[in-house]
Amino acid sequence: MIIAIDGPAASGKGTLARRLAAHFGLRHLDTGLTYRAVAAALLAQGLPLGDEKVAVDIAGRLDLGHMDRSALSAHEVGEAASRIAVLPGLRDELVRLQRAFAQTPPGAVLDGRDIGTVVCPDADVKLYVTAAPEARARRRTAEIQSQGKEADFASVLEDLKRRDERDMNRTVAPLRQADGAHLLDTTGMGIETAFQAAVDIVTSARAS
Ligand code: DC
Repeated sequence: MIIAIDGPAASGKGTLARRLAAHFGLRHLDTGLTYRAVAAALLAQGLPLGDEKVAVDIAGRLDLGHMDRSALSAHEVGEAASRIAVLPGLRDELVRLQRAFAQTPPGAVLDGRDIGTVVCPDADVKLYVTAAPEARARRRTAEIQSQGKEADFASVLEDLKRRDERDMNRTVAPLRQADGAHLLDTTGMGIETAFQAAVDIVTSARAS
């Protein structure tokens, strides 16, 4: 079984993907980490973010099983990931790796921006997880503050809107609700409620 989950930053899709994978006994891939890992390598080597050839080369050497979430969570890395995500050759390479991951038994939950549209258009179940920008900014602010770091709601909101704008309006594989994707709007929902709603969608989609 393959479950495809897409949505904007801080929509809750990552937590839902991880929990759905555990619930249904599937593997999980946060595809954002693949873009972040390439971006982090470019930044670490002081290389220009527009150098597609080097980016593709780094992507080809990624080990999807060993991407360190905490090392890749920095704001600058997310910003750089969103910038390199417009490079078509890089996307081709990462999509190839992501598909191979998805097709390995017993199946997987993948979350990102183009899973239902490009990576796994034939997924058994597709979810589009979203929430109002203010709700997402509130969650992201609380998350950063819980790590003991400073975060200001207004600038977090600004950032999210800028990221949405870039991810939804790029020419290659823009973020959008895939054909056949179930919409899950988590505005005003706690994580448990959202998780139950996602389990219900997957369960009834599999039964039909
Ligand atoms: O979900 P995230 O914040 O870790 O993703 C970082 C960036 O990577 C995001 O702004 C756009 C890009 N991305 C993408 O283009 N396609 C994906 N499937 C996942 C992420």
